[in-house]
Amino acid sequence: MSSLLVHNVGELVTNAPGASDGGPLGVRRDAALLVEDGQVAWVGPARDTPAADRRIDAEGAAVLPGFVDSHAHLVFAGDRAAEFAARMAGEPYTGGGIRTTVGATRAAVDAELRSTVRRLRDEALRQGTTTIEVKSGYGLTVADEARSLRIAAEVSEETTFLGAHVVPAEYADRPDDYVGLVCGPMLAAAAPYARWIDVFCERGAFDADHARAVLTCGQAAGLGMRLHANQLGPGPGVRLGVELGAASVDHCTHLVDADVDALAASSGATVATLLPGAEFSTRSPYPDARRLLDAGVTVALATDCNPGSSYTSSMPFCIALAVREMRMTPAEAVWAATAGGAAALRRTDVGRLAPGARADLMILDAPSYLHLAYRPGVPLIRQVLHNGVLQ
Ligand code: NIG
Ligand code: FE
Repeated sequence: MSSLLVHNVGELVTNAPGASDGGPLGVRRDAALLVEDGQVAWVGPARDTPAADRRIDAEGAAVLPGFVDSHAHLVFAGDRAAEFAARMAGEPYTGGGIRTTVGATRAAVDAELRSTVRRLRDEALRQGTTTIEVKSGYGLTVADEARSLRIAAEVSEETTFLGAHVVPAEYADRPDDYVGLVCGPMLAAAAPYARWIDVFCERGAFDADHARAVLTCGQAAGLGMRLHANQLGPGPGVRLGVELGAASVDHCTHLVDADVDALAASSGATVATLLPGAEFSTRSPYPDARRLLDAGVTVALATDCNPGSSYTSSMPFCIALAVREMRMTPAEAVWAATAGGAAALRRTDVGRLAPGARADLMILDAPSYLHLAYRPGVPLIRQVLHNGVLQ
């Protein structure tokens, strides 16, 4: 068993509050960390550094847990740059472009989808993301959803069946029939490759009854529940998610008090996942993170990487937006992008650096995690370890 010591760490973010300064990030100064068998074996002060087969000198920089991006749509073909340009010239975002990507995705061969998924996964990894959830949702036929998830499962264990993304054109006047397809043969074909089920609960996509049907059939097939809710306007999605015990309700851009109260009352069982890249790219008002945090809601940050509403794989960019535009402190944003994402995926082995956790971490080109928001747009990720292996 070979061991690896990351030493000379100026600031170590552990997300293990007990062992450190007492704050939620569990920051330790002048620390070191030992990796054995792909896991964190020991964390402690630099002066007690144990012997190891190999060493990485962090040169006084900050070390953080790898980002946990709990919401991404990586399986698609084509892009929608022209739609983005039109929006920046004043067009609104409606979600109608999803069908454009569905057409391109259906027409693509497997190799093209596979190469896009891997390119985006690698892009994210270089920016510190060591866990990434990957959704289907641009196939919307039994065969195309199953192959999307098969390809997604090649790069991530966090795969999500989003057959209920929109009602495809061929079912335009028959949404009940489409929900029947999603809950029947499509789910049967998708479930072997999926850990989660998701639905876009929004005016123009799926209403509360359809969303409930989709989530409960997924749950009966053994999948965990998560949903897109309250992105484009207020609606029933957030409260439905809490009621059903979904792990996460994502977007949460338009909330009424009852939504915030329901999330708070769930005591962290349902995480509010905020996706500021979508508001940036659709030029929409940002979700009110402060209101959620002050109410005691568990908040995650994710990229929503997709070709329509948020074509970024960068968690540092989302952190900077959350701090500048959503009134999160840098510590809250970094927690939400690591431990928060892990909570949204109901994972305890990632998003923290403590004995027994997966050795997923990044060494910054900066002395503190504060620089992730303070120096926006700058490539600050110097080195990434994934499962204990230097990338
Ligand atoms: O999370 N809201 C629904 N789905 C995506 C957008 C997908 C698209 O526009 O292609 C989202 O923003
Ligand atoms: Fe999304």
